[in-house]
Amino acid sequence: MDAVSKTSPTTATLKVGDDSWELPILSGTIGPDVVDIGKLYGQTGMFTYDPGFTSTASCESQITYIDGDAGVLLYRGYPIEQLAENGDFLETCYLLLYGELPTAAQKADFDYRVTRHTMVHEQMSRFFHGFRRDAHPMAVLVASVGAMSAFYHDSTDISDPQQRMIASIRMIAKMPTLAAMAYKYSIGQPFVYPKNDLDYASNFLRMCFSVPCEEYKANPVLSRAIDRIFILHADHEQNASTSTVRLAGSSGANPFACIAAGIACLWGPAHGGANEAALKMLGEIGSVDRIPEYIKRAKDKNDPFRLMGFGHRVYKNYDPRAKIMQKTCHEVLGELGIKDDPLLDIAVELERIALQDEYFVERKLYPNIDFYSGITLRALGFPTAMFTVLFALARTVGWIGQWKEMIEDPGQRIGRPRQLYTGAVQRDYTSIARRK
Ligand code: ACO
Repeated sequence: MDAVSKTSPTTATLKVGDDSWELPILSGTIGPDVVDIGKLYGQTGMFTYDPGFTSTASCESQITYIDGDAGVLLYRGYPIEQLAENGDFLETCYLLLYGELPTAAQKADFDYRVTRHTMVHEQMSRFFHGFRRDAHPMAVLVASVGAMSAFYHDSTDISDPQQRMIASIRMIAKMPTLAAMAYKYSIGQPFVYPKNDLDYASNFLRMCFSVPCEEYKANPVLSRAIDRIFILHADHEQNASTSTVRLAGSSGANPFACIAAGIACLWGPAHGGANEAALKMLGEIGSVDRIPEYIKRAKDKNDPFRLMGFGHRVYKNYDPRAKIMQKTCHEVLGELGIKDDPLLDIAVELERIALQDEYFVERKLYPNIDFYSGITLRALGFPTAMFTVLFALARTVGWIGQWKEMIEDPGQRIGRPRQLYTGAVQRDYTSIARRK
């Protein structure tokens, strides 16, 4: 096959031997144009081949834009830095779901609606008691969010806009409650009910760290930090977990099941599990003088070790979220009076060395958001097993926004990728006695 060559701004020509086909080129508001291959199979009998989807736009979306080369992340057009600096997480939720920043009245109404859904069905606490205490909180979260479809079946009819809206609000509101319950269960403490006069982040911190015998008073600097962490993680266009949610949702599955699928995908160390892995790695390195040894290992193709919290499929520049995360990390450590954190020293030095190293420079490997988030979350009091849970909590709104956009698209069809088959050709069954 010859290459796809762009012959005009609106079409590309695909030439295969003596045959050629015109393929439409579509343009977005910003970002690369796309060659529309939707009719390619019908016209040519060929599929395209793109494992890992490195060159494939799987959908049209108006929610989030990333320019990986420039290190830009926009939610509905607004730079992440401005949202993290000036707004709060529920404002970002509103923006992602509805497309515009809320007015004061809209914000008050949205906050009220979310706040009124923070409690989970009382029977859910009994459901939790079926888990082993040492279960990973992500295992508990996948299961409990999936189970929401059994508890809230009055909001599982995806053809009803009202039910879609209630399911969305329920998930944004209840995710902190479920995440805190997963944590409390793992440490053998009683569940703490939500307190609706607190803001979203303070309520979450209180549900995690309050005990019946001692009231927890959220520190505003720490609440602000966790709120900012939620904003930074709220959406990231068609990443692996979001694509999972879209694919699951494309079959018409209920929203709770789709979000549970997204949580399962997020759990992996190449995705949401990376902050846990980054912190573990910093601990394993142990001291600044051992950094060169680990840099050497990361560069060795015969060693599976990679620098966790480094590199990104889309960012080939500094992840803009990592910069805000680094600042937040220093603020949290400062507020808590942690003057010397050996892991932070290792992180800063590792980053400095890697950013000067030819291997990392050539491959455009920069710290991603996970590099500093682990240190920050640990300082806030969270065990490493909870890191990905917090990511899932924050990403829930992004998953819902993307799912909602897909369901509301009149042209939506079930997602069904094709394949390049390289297995056995047709052959006849042999009875077991005759097999060698
Ligand atoms: N350490 C060392 N080398 C690396 C790293 C790393 N962290 N990341 C990529 N490379 C190298 C690869 O070995 C490859 O080298 P080569 O061209 O000589 O073969 C090259 O850089 C390109 O890497 P790919 O794996 O092809 O890049 P891809 O886009 O598929 O992977 C990923 C991106 C998964 C994030 C990868 O960089 C990685 O594993 N990083 C560590 C895990 C991590 O931090 N994940 C968090 C992602 S952010 C998020 O989910 C919020």
